[in-house]
Formats: sequence, structure tokens, C-alpha cells
Amino acid sequence: MRYLTLLLALMLSSQLFAQQPVLISVTEASDSPQISRHIYGHFAEHLGRCIYEGLYVGEENKTIPNTEGVRNDIIEALKELNIPNLRWPGGCFADTYHWKDGVGPKDERPTIVNRWWGGTTEDNSFGTHNFLNLCEVLGAEPYLSANVGSGTVQELIDWVQYTNHDGVSPMADWRRENGREAPWKVKYWGVGNETWGCGGNMTAEYYADIYRQYATFMPGWSGETEIYRIASGASEDDYHWTETLMKNVPYHLMEAVALHDYAVFDWSDKGPSVNFDDEIYFKSMEQALKMEEYVTKHIEIMDKYDPESKVALFVDEWGGWYDAEPEVKNGVLYQQNTIRDVMIAGTVLNTFNNHARRVKMANLAQMVNVLQAVILTDKEKMIKTPTYHVMNMYKVHQDAQLLPSKIEGNMEFRELPSISVSASRDKTGKVHISLVNIDPENEIPVELDVAGLDIKNIDGQILTSDKLQDHNSFDAPEKVTPKEFKGAKLKKGSISLTIPAHSLIVLQGK
Ligand code: AHR
Repeated sequence: MRYLTLLLALMLSSQLFAQQPVLISVTEASDSPQISRHIYGHFAEHLGRCIYEGLYVGEENKTIPNTEGVRNDIIEALKELNIPNLRWPGGCFADTYHWKDGVGPKDERPTIVNRWWGGTTEDNSFGTHNFLNLCEVLGAEPYLSANVGSGTVQELIDWVQYTNHDGVSPMADWRRENGREAPWKVKYWGVGNETWGCGGNMTAEYYADIYRQYATFMPGWSGETEIYRIASGASEDDYHWTETLMKNVPYHLMEAVALHDYAVFDWSDKGPSVNFDDEIYFKSMEQALKMEEYVTKHIEIMDKYDPESKVALFVDEWGGWYDAEPEVKNGVLYQQNTIRDVMIAGTVLNTFNNHARRVKMANLAQMVNVLQAVILTDKEKMIKTPTYHVMNMYKVHQDAQLLPSKIEGNMEFRELPSISVSASRDKTGKVHISLVNIDPENEIPVELDVAGLDIKNIDGQILTSDKLQDHNSFDAPEKVTPKEFKGAKLKKGSISLTIPAHSLIVLQGK
């Protein structure tokens, strides 16, 4: 009898203290923006083993199947992601790069010493043709980052002419001589990179003037490709930088302003990419979630000067950045990729989706073997990282209409919000809701109010693993992969589910 009473008391108290679900409403709003597919963009720099020994193995390589020197397994993996754009050749490298050294017969090209990244000597064998042809194969828009720091206005406008001019002109003729008849019609052009740092250590005021000068000569010729000029933007919370550009550069000279923000909590001690502890995990997530604050505040400044949202915000470098793995030869900025990276990618992409009115492009740093890469290679082997799977699961949001969402009673992981969400309706009418629970220990029940969305069926996928440190390796390439999620129940306009600790779920409603 005593045991029965005890059991009853226990059952009652557990019901009493059962965790209340986090409430999320997802609604339809006719004026909500389209989520630009370009938010799911990538970035490939001449850095470590991103291009050479990564993406590009050379046209002469007979061991690794390739197309014009680019690995076929990587091309296939990237096509699956619907990669919308690719930024190249840097990064800091861009402001040392002279594009003319990378076209024409390969055996006549001068070498270049990679001043920023390891001092390696490169033979310029991967150049403009390789990059732009690759983008064509991938169906991705190229985004060329031009050299302002050590280049000239003439060098940049020659590059535009070389890639885009259809008629007779010195650069278009040279392109034809080099084997390419039709122009590639490159739309996206970055005018310098991190000009406050490796791109020239300029002040915001000085760069705004330089930018105006470069941008003046950049528009296309009548009837040719529309050019999208991107001003080198602020780092993190440097609001003065954005304010100065918005104030000093007329709209007709600037289509977008950039922003760079990495999830780094201490630049002098970034911590390991795999063997991190709870404290480091917390600090990484704290830093990653700051993206929401930075984007919101930069947008507030842009709204002040440009209430009609003519100028876009491009977050053209973002991702987790840790201490490099020491064992990889020439592995500058080579790091592993764990469930922590899933949490970073999922929450940051939710922020971009939710700010789709102004955020029109973002570029994950970087694509292969560098920082928060989607692909890692080791000679002939190639693996997809957990972040690859996030990009694959989230691709459903590309060009879909944002469905505004609101969270009530969010749980907290220390002082951080545990749950993050974004939602959209795609062109076929399907609803996609991406949810992340960053809490490392606790599952969280969630109740989604979707009454206005006319959903009849729900299914989903989940990406998680036992430990935060779990990752894919060349020996176990499938350790972290998405699985079917059957835990979402739809009843009377509401979806209930429990999100396991450190998990990412994408639901699909029809
Ligand atoms: O992505 C690595 C480096 O980070 C880039 O070269 C630079 O733009 C940034 O500081």
C-alpha cells in the first residue's frame, strides 16, 4: 500500500512538473518576402586545400575523375545542394590576386605567393576560365571578388570586359583567343574584401570614396549583363562601417553591402574543432547567435538611409572557425565538422531566412577543406560533413516565401534561447519548418500553431547524433546523416513534437 501511494504521488508530481511546450505560431502574410536562394551560397578561396588538392586536382590527373580538373565527386555533391552561387577567389587572397596571371596558356603563367595563407607558391593553373566554367556546370551564379587593395580600377574593369563583353573589344577578343566565345555574364562583383583589414586597412570614410571611384566604371554596356556591385562590408558589430557606406555612397552606385561574421569567441585561442568541452560549446553558440543581433542592427541602419530596401545585405562570409587540425599537411584552416556545426548552421540560416527582406545573399566559409566546409577530401577520398546535410535539408527554403514565425515561452540553455525556427511555403505549396534545439542535454516539447496554413499531412527529417562531438570521418563517412523523423503529430491545426537535445529537424507539411 505504501508503495502504491508513493507511485501515485510520483506520477502526479511528474505530470504537474511536466515541461510546458514551447509555443510557436507560423502564419501566412501576403507581404512577406521571398527567401532568396542566394542565402544558400558558398565561398571558395585560394587557401589551404580548398582549391588546390581540394576542389581542383588538375586536368592531367588520371587517378581522380574530373571535369576540366575539378573533381567529379565534388561536382555531383554540390549539384545535389542546388548551390545557387559561389564566391571566389577570396577572401584576403582576392586583394593580392591579379586575374590576368590566371588566363592563357598554363605553362606561360607566372606564379603567385599566397601571402596571407601559408606563403605557398601557386602556379595560377586554376584561373578565371576554370572557375566560371565550373559555375556553369553547377548551375550556380559566379560571384567574383575583385582586387582593390593591390589592384587598379583598370584591372577590375578589364576583368568585367573579359567575362561579360559580347562585342569586339580588347578583353573580349583575348577571351576568345583563350578558347571561350560567349561571355559568362557575371552579375555579382565584390569591390574589395575586408578593406578595413587584409584588404588595405582603410578607414570607412576612405573606402567609401575608393568604392565610389571603382563603382563608377563598373556598370555593363547597354544591353549587357546587369552588374551587381557589392561594397566590402563591416565585421560583426562595426555599425559605423555600414553607416558610413550608406551615408556616403549614392544608391545608384551600390547594389549590396557585405557583412562578415564568424562564430569565434577568442581569436587568439579558438578551441579545437572536435574535442571541445561544454564551456566551449556554450561560447561557440553564444557567438553564433549574435548573428541575429548584428543582422538586425545593420539592417536598422540600412533602413534609415534606404527605407525602400534598394541596397541588399550580403553576409558573404560566415561560419564556425576553430583551431586547425594539426595533422594535415598544408592544411591551413582545415577543421573537422561536428554536431556543434549543425547547431551553428541551423540557427544562423534561420536568422537569414527570417531577415529575407534585406538579406539577399550569404556565403558559408568555406566550401572544401577550409573552416566550416561542406566537403572534406583526402587524396582520392571525399566525405560530406554534417554541415553539408544541413544545407541539403534547408535547400527547400530556396526562393520560397517566408512564413513569419513567433516563439513564446522559449526554454533557455543557460542564457541562450534553446529553440530557433524559420518557415516558408515553396512554389508547389508545401510548407517547410526548420527547428533547432541547441540545448546539449534536454529534449524540448514544442507546439506549433499552423491553423492558417491548411496542412493535411506532416513528415520530416532529423539531423543529430549521440554526442555533440560526433562527426563524419574518412573511416566513418555516414556517422552523422539525416534520418526520417516520425515524431510530429498533426491535430486540429497544431503540430506537436519533442525535439531531442542538440538536434535539427526540418518538417514538411502538405
Ligand atoms: O575565410 C577566411 C578569411 O576570413 C578570409 O580570407 C577573410 O576575408 C576573412 O578574414
